[in-house]
Amino acid sequence: MNALACGLCWYVCAAVCVLSVDASWWYMSTLGSRVMCDNIPGLVSEQRQLCRQHPRVMQAIGAGVQDWIAECQHQFRNHRWNCNIVARDHSLFGRLLLRGSREVAFIYAISSAGVVHTLARACSRGELDSCSCDPRKTGTWRDRAGAFDWGGCSDHVEHAARFGHAFVDAKERKEPDARALINLHNNRAGRKAVKRLLSLECKCHGVSGSCSARTCWLAMADFRRTGDELRRKYERAVHVAVNQYGAALTTLSAAGRRTAPGKNQLVYSDESPDFCVHDHDTGSVGTGGRRCNVTSRGADGCSVMCCGRGYDTARVSRSAKCECKFHWCCVVRCRDCRQVVDVRTCKDHT
Ligand SMILES: *[C@@H]1O[C@H](CO)[C@@H](O)[C@H](O)[C@H]1NC(C)=O
Repeated sequence: MNALACGLCWYVCAAVCVLSVDASWWYMSTLGSRVMCDNIPGLVSEQRQLCRQHPRVMQAIGAGVQDWIAECQHQFRNHRWNCNIVARDHSLFGRLLLRGSREVAFIYAISSAGVVHTLARACSRGELDSCSCDPRKTGTWRDRAGAFDWGGCSDHVEHAARFGHAFVDAKERKEPDARALINLHNNRAGRKAVKRLLSLECKCHGVSGSCSARTCWLAMADFRRTGDELRRKYERAVHVAVNQYGAALTTLSAAGRRTAPGKNQLVYSDESPDFCVHDHDTGSVGTGGRRCNVTSRGADGCSVMCCGRGYDTARVSRSAKCECKFHWCCVVRCRDCRQVVDVRTCKDHT
């Protein structure tokens, strides 16, 4: 009897544990504006609590998921892995997440950066009751060009990063195993990327714009720049392992000198699959049917993208504006021209 109960217990635990590994707050995006904290699979108790306390913030974060996924897909549009989403998967990225690859490092970093960016922007726009512009940016400060007055609205990135840390990291903080340490590191690198791209913007005052007085505010960069920055960090991501005490990450450099990875670096623990063919176990969808560029020597080149399987060429005709002329005053008239272009798509493996 005991043995049976225990077996059942294991069975239930296995099912629940697999589910909770797979689900993530990322899934909030699919729920639109009706964020109901108890219905989002995969939130841990701290996240549920924050969700109930800050429903408007959750709505913003949920809507922001679309933005960082779009940025991820933009950054990897010409690559075998193109940040594709697995439909109806509670973690959006499916089995890819089971390993700590560079791609997963990028996803964690950009999602965490996305939360900071989305929240700080919503705060600045006055869309949330819990925050607004950075209240500490008042009075007179000084930079290399001299004194200036804080004015306008400084993006409250500090607040957004604090909330992001509390909400996004909650799950990994609960069970800090090796993968959790890696995810936490990449989450922080994402938040730091947004902070580092803050810049001081100023308006000049004074006699005929002499700039004898300045009003300045701290502004976040466009999210595209954060994406570019994290993309560079992905290229230089560092292979790490957990140290002998299981409490910190150390780099696995070829030279054998082991150090802690830099706080701004992305870290990974597993080599990436080649993403060439569909593979259920690694979450790779393969590149069959993807467009490639026959003259490019980069990752979007047909030989790289199609992994040597070859490609199909289709001649398609499309319309484009041409022979545009300026007519006085003030219209530009164009003709519609037919253009014939060759579109190459990777063959499927069979
Ligand atoms: C293909 O690659 C070449 C070389 O990198 C580039 O000049 C060209 O614009 C690309 N074509 C398309 C359709 O992207």
